[in-house]
Amino acid sequence: MKSATRHAYLDALGLESWVLRPAATRAGAPPPVARPGWEELRRRVAACTRCALCATRTQTVFGVGNPEAEWLIVGEAPGAEEDRQGEPFVGRAGQLLNSMLHAIGLTRAQVYIANVLKCRPPGNRDPSDSETAQCLPYLDAQIALLQPKIMLVVGRIAAHSLLRTDVALGRLRHQVHNFGPTRIPLVVTYHPAYLLRSPTDKRKAWDDLKFAREVFGRV
Ligand code: URA
Repeated sequence: MKSATRHAYLDALGLESWVLRPAATRAGAPPPVARPGWEELRRRVAACTRCALCATRTQTVFGVGNPEAEWLIVGEAPGAEEDRQGEPFVGRAGQLLNSMLHAIGLTRAQVYIANVLKCRPPGNRDPSDSETAQCLPYLDAQIALLQPKIMLVVGRIAAHSLLRTDVALGRLRHQVHNFGPTRIPLVVTYHPAYLLRSPTDKRKAWDDLKFAREVFGRV
């Protein structure tokens, strides 16, 4: 792991530096610094200056929903409306996401929704690799706190960031990926903003949602 990436992770976990202590002092000792809870993590994200997006954001967009949720929905990055309101998926794409969730019997209040990036890229451009690398540790920390039973990842960019692949979205659909050390089942579908532009693919998204619900039924 690159040093900058390791620092980003340590930062999100509240560890300023990482030194392996001698075996004698490791045995039975408590961990050096507790993982941040939700409020501490939210505070760190709100104060984040890890990349240049902090200069152009109105505010950070941490995530929203039930901290006990079994479903985690992951999108790409805040858009203009999210940047204004401080909440993910509140614009037109968000309305479609709400309908997609309703279609499988879920309300927004029952799930947790977060993005890979916590700040809006100007003009809604794609996140850069470096912005993603700096910001992903926050999402990882959210996942560690939430411990969802399933992750539904919407869109190519979020899927590529989380699965660390560049395989086409169409080939990532309709299979169960396993995320992280606890191998959380992860299902990929189209981004609602894409579906607004290409409504004929809504049928495929519906197939993905039914598949995700079926996978959830098995865990
Ligand atoms: N698109 C995303 O990926 N996330 C949002 O929060 C809004 C639009």
